[in-house]
Amino acid sequence: MTATVENPKVSAAIRVRGIEKSFKDLPVLRGVDFEVARGSIFALLGSNGAGKTTLVRILSTLLKADAGTAVIEDFDVAAESLQVRESISLTGQFAAVDEVLTGRENLILVARLRHLEKPDQIADDLLARFALTDAGSRRAATYSGGMRRRLDIAMSLIGDPPVIFLDEPTTGLDPQSRNEVWQTVRHLADNGTTVLLTTQTLNEAEQLADRIAILHRGTIIQNGTLAELKQLLPPATVEYVEKQPSLEDVFLALVGEAPVSDTETDLLPDAAIQQRKET
Ligand SMILES: Nc1ncnc2c1ncn2[C@@H]1O[C@H](COP(=O)(O)OP(=O)(O)OP(=O)(O)O)[C@@H](O)[C@H]1O
Ligand SMILES: [Mg+2]
Repeated sequence: MTATVENPKVSAAIRVRGIEKSFKDLPVLRGVDFEVARGSIFALLGSNGAGKTTLVRILSTLLKADAGTAVIEDFDVAAESLQVRESISLTGQFAAVDEVLTGRENLILVARLRHLEKPDQIADDLLARFALTDAGSRRAATYSGGMRRRLDIAMSLIGDPPVIFLDEPTTGLDPQSRNEVWQTVRHLADNGTTVLLTTQTLNEAEQLADRIAILHRGTIIQNGTLAELKQLLPPATVEYVEKQPSLEDVFLALVGEAPVSDTETDLLPDAAIQQRKET
């Protein structure tokens, strides 16, 4: 165990105790407890319908819990919702960009809503950071899923909130866009932002999270580091296994993460060659 976990009062940015929530007769959360250390990435894993989005909505003050307490940056989500809202940002499961506006206009709008100075400058900086400068003057309706997701995350970073919630940030993205989102999330945590993300992709939790919690039948049934969770199963036996490239390795090599020779490009579809030329 690390010092941060032994001393949660000093370092926990999120403290959740006994949260319960039912929708009519359907109990969804039956007493959820966990803490997230400041500046760490916490992944909440769970199957469809486990209650991940419900929990994120409670923590971001959009929904009231039936019982229990949740404290974000020392503010109670029920009693101090205004202060909580100023401390967090939420990127929902479904992108919240305004499709009629351009990417740049979306960013400027949020910066204005947050009463920040120099909204144009903020927008341009974020467009550059998320590799959206060229697309910035196009309407968001014309963006691909990955671009839209990146814009959505960029919008949620305006105002530098200390805590961010990402509800399934990479669902529906191709491996390249997903890697870009992962890099963004790592960068945020490296700079002290606390990140709570939900995911169904176990690989995503393995790649990103300092701690992983599994939400199942309304409670957290396990919560630990990847190494701690792996210790729950019997120790691995040593076997000789030939290391074959995964389909993902092949895909990334073909579409952009590794240099491709002229002969190799002969094998690629036109769109992939075009994309390589552009990157
Ligand atoms: N407003 C609501 N009214 C009634 N039932 C709801 C409401 N919101 C969620 N539920 C139910 O609560 C349960 C948990 O839903 P939730 O969206 O939190 O799950 P999830 O873990 O986010 O799932 P997914 O992985 O599919 O996003 C589901 O059975 C869902 O139908
Ligand atoms: Mg959900």
